[in-house]
Amino acid sequence: MTQPPRYESSQGVTGEILEEVATKRRRPEPTAIVIFGATGDLGGRKLAPALFNLMLDGALTEPTVIIGVSRTPLAVEQFAEHLRPRLAEFSRQPVEPAAWDKFASSLDYVGGDFANDATYVALKVRLEAAKAAGTRGNRVFYLATPPSVFAVILEKLQKHGLIERAVQKRGVLGCRVIVEKPFGRDLASARALNEMIGNYLHETQIYRIDHYLGKETVQNILVLRFGNSIFEPLWNRNHISHVEITAAETIGIEGRGTFYEQTGVVRDIIQNHLLQVMSLVTMEVPASFSADDIRDEKSQVLRSVRNLSLNDVANYAVRGQYRGYRDEHGVAPESETATYAALRLMIDSWRWHGVPFYLRAGKKLAERLTEVQIHFKSVPLVLFKDEAAGNVLQPAVLTLRIQPSEGISLRFVAKVPGESINVGNVHMTMTYADAFKRPISEAYERLLLDCMRGDATLFNRRDSVDRAWELIQPILQVWEATPGVTIYEPGGCGPADADTMMTRDGCSWRTLVAE
Ligand code: BG6
Repeated sequence: MTQPPRYESSQGVTGEILEEVATKRRRPEPTAIVIFGATGDLGGRKLAPALFNLMLDGALTEPTVIIGVSRTPLAVEQFAEHLRPRLAEFSRQPVEPAAWDKFASSLDYVGGDFANDATYVALKVRLEAAKAAGTRGNRVFYLATPPSVFAVILEKLQKHGLIERAVQKRGVLGCRVIVEKPFGRDLASARALNEMIGNYLHETQIYRIDHYLGKETVQNILVLRFGNSIFEPLWNRNHISHVEITAAETIGIEGRGTFYEQTGVVRDIIQNHLLQVMSLVTMEVPASFSADDIRDEKSQVLRSVRNLSLNDVANYAVRGQYRGYRDEHGVAPESETATYAALRLMIDSWRWHGVPFYLRAGKKLAERLTEVQIHFKSVPLVLFKDEAAGNVLQPAVLTLRIQPSEGISLRFVAKVPGESINVGNVHMTMTYADAFKRPISEAYERLLLDCMRGDATLFNRRDSVDRAWELIQPILQVWEATPGVTIYEPGGCGPADADTMMTRDGCSWRTLVAE
């Protein structure tokens, strides 16, 4: 019997790589992947590189056919030439000529308007060719387009017999549709979108993507919490004083002015990425790792988050816009769109009652960093009065570093060597790079593979998308009705109001440090 591969880290950890064995076992069926909006930014930056890397890693089953659909009329060779420089820039593995030729040979392309029947007639021909080549009718449609065209695409796919509403079982051939975020632009539009999609597809065929859920470090939150007996007993209001979740970026809106004007940071990052991370940090133990058990628990905790009142929005939601945003292409000269937001949420459950959750996200900040910090309570000070007065004795903090420098670190106090009892803060750190010595795959690789396998665990279910909109709806309403975004300087830590919000509660944000 072949032994599973082993890993050995510089930190002296060794073990079997069980996940690699699982990946091989769960290879997807041969599939045709149809990407609507394939020549757009997402197609070139994320989807094509993800599929290329999956091919290089031998994770796909042949034949896997990738059919791009976009408005631009292109021959398949031109489509390939359009993708090649993007792969060179964004692929995590080098684009060697032989690998490129193999990848290019799996590409196909249909140019045409999404509202035009001829586009779908041509697509059907390509899908039939793929089926004859061995995809056996297994197909994934990726809607990497603005939500405004979802309805027409689904209507035409149905009309031409390319999708049909049916319960999808794991591993069973059929059609699935991946829908990109933002899923709607508010509660009402998200509900309408869900209704509309529900007319064409069964919930088991709908894969609402949030790429944060495909990040290794985000998935590790559950393993850390539930795979170790030392954390879970402390993971509650008896031991935790507050939790900070930060998604800071150094980049601006990168030429996406029109998109960002309609979106803003709350819809772009908080409604989806940060609330998803928060739900993984706060959910109860699921009965199993099955899609529905995990999604039930996530949904449950989101339902326990206290709704924000208008007063809460005034006191516990802060907005900012980086200086220079209004000069970006596609942005209104007096735009009120927030590129930074910070807010405080409370969860009304036995586990979390009284523990504030501070969430912040922003563009053009000092440091690129996504992180969860669990702040533990302070100790009774009877033994350490002097240290407390001098602010030396700080409570322990567990940091889950989502990116970059992925890892986990624990800050705690230790005795400084010497004759007297002096204490100092120390850090115990694990990094993925050191511990596993293997590259971390891109989130889109994992998510595309899971969809092909029919595993929806890392995709959002309708109820949690709905609830997430419900939670941020008061913020959107108040901010849209009352202009007043604060301008902050690029390269800093965001608006000062966000610091004030924390200091009022006796806390402070983790400092962002320029690289
Ligand atoms: C996307 C947002 O969902 O996430 C972008 O639309 C943002 O505005 C990006 O830059 C951040 O993703 P990551 O994986 O780089 O943290």
